[in-house]
Amino acid sequence: MTDPTVSHESDAERESYWNAYYASTRTARRPLPSQFATFVAGELEGPTRILEFGSGAGRDSLFFSSHGHDVTGVDGSKAAVDACSALAATLGEGATFVAATIDQPDLASQLRVEAGNTLVYARFFVHAITDEEETAFLDLAARLTSPGDRLAVEYRTVRDSSGAKVTGAHYRRFVNPSSFNAKAVLHGFEVTYAVEGFGFAKYKQDDAYVARALFVRR
Ligand SMILES: C[S@@+](CC[C@H](N)C(=O)[O-])C[C@H]1O[C@@H](n2cnc3c(N)ncnc32)[C@H](O)[C@@H]1O
Repeated sequence: MTDPTVSHESDAERESYWNAYYASTRTARRPLPSQFATFVAGELEGPTRILEFGSGAGRDSLFFSSHGHDVTGVDGSKAAVDACSALAATLGEGATFVAATIDQPDLASQLRVEAGNTLVYARFFVHAITDEEETAFLDLAARLTSPGDRLAVEYRTVRDSSGAKVTGAHYRRFVNPSSFNAKAVLHGFEVTYAVEGFGFAKYKQDDAYVARALFVRR
């Protein structure tokens, strides 16, 4: 039976949607960060190596970079990565951006990590990928971190499937927070904070029912 909470698009259709989206929203102005990024920044102890997956228009990577963190954003859309690299240069930010899909086999080797000082960050990424890609994401997060490192995620949950959306129709999967947290635990992470609800990610008429979670690597 078809799951009504999942939209069905091929990988090429998803990539083409995001490339067209970022090509049309390119800007030279400093973007505002998400509410989640400002929350996570307040939880960091000091300068941190941050690996952002699904960095999109780069707003959160550039925000973390402007606060002294050493940031690499990764996104499957080459248009997004080109726009972010140009914007980082314009703004004088040191953040770097890599065009790669989450299941690309050589991705881990392209990313420099600092043991004990790394945060894997993903906002509105987990619901934009498939179940299999979620497993690839958690495999990669486990590979890129060592004990004491952190993982921070925010995503649309199953309870958001019928809510209004500001961005156009494209692939979205609505995630069950209990299942995601259990899977993260199996990948070596311990849940240190987990909430869900409305109001965390309001954007115009879209007040998504989201989950936020912070994890520490065991
Ligand atoms: C909803 S956007 C989130 C952007 C940004 N994090 C934010 O919160 O504004 C999801 C992003 O994930 C990227 N993406 C989707 N599938 C991907 C995949 N399989 N591998 C890497 N990036 C992917 C898209 O290109 C898009 O930029």
